[in-house]
Amino acid sequence: MDVLEAMQTLNACRHYTTAAVSDELVAKILNSARWAATGSNNQPVSYVVVRDVSKRRTIHDLYQPIWDMVMKRYSSGEIKSGFDSKFLDNVDHFARHLCDVPVLIVVCARWQELTALDANLGRTVLTPGSSIYPAVQNMMLAARNEGLGTVLTTLLVLAENEIKKLLDIPDDVATAAVITLGWPAKPFPKKLKRKPLATTAFLDSYGAALPGVDQYA
Ligand SMILES: Cc1cc2nc3c(=O)[nH]c(=O)nc-3n(C[C@H](O)[C@H](O)[C@H](O)COP(=O)(O)O)c2cc1C
Repeated sequence: MDVLEAMQTLNACRHYTTAAVSDELVAKILNSARWAATGSNNQPVSYVVVRDVSKRRTIHDLYQPIWDMVMKRYSSGEIKSGFDSKFLDNVDHFARHLCDVPVLIVVCARWQELTALDANLGRTVLTPGSSIYPAVQNMMLAARNEGLGTVLTTLLVLAENEIKKLLDIPDDVATAAVITLGWPAKPFPKKLKRKPLATTAFLDSYGAALPGVDQYA
């Protein structure tokens, strides 16, 4: 598959069949993650592939109450979002069926090796994740290339202690995301809903129009 097509159709796949994903495919997808850049090439990322049904059930049981709390906040309007009710139904379905997704990939990182260059700027820290999520995106694009669906989830970092205990993850390793991996039950979208490029890409000055972007709406 053309890499641009993979990017343009890599959605959050929230409905899966229960068909198995082979060990070969999982290894191939994780190998794609291996090529991602990391700061100083220190490669702090590792993965625990969870196939065991009872461990998937435990992960589900940790995810569900976190999602229920978030869903309540969306539904009450406490969290403002552009999401419509169809979107929330899809995300809710995904949460309720998390344990049925055949593969859950827990993305880990040796946290002491992540540099927070922006730790003292008085705002949300952005830089530590920059050595983790390029690998995640590579993995998800490689899955898309195979016709497999994924969702990048981060809510489970709220249950990091329990997940680490469940999967014997050492103290110097943190969890950064859980990626669901399976065969989609619905077709991939033709086009994702994204902001027009003209609203996010600028020339020389923030907010100044960048030529050539109007065609990407
Ligand atoms: C950093 C990040 C964290 C996310 N965390 C979750 C999550 O915990 N649970 C979930 O269902 N989706 C999660 N998502 C998926 C987003 O909701 C999804 O990518 C976004 O709505 C765009 O969906 P689309 O690609 O299908 O248009 C996350 C995505 C990102 C990039």
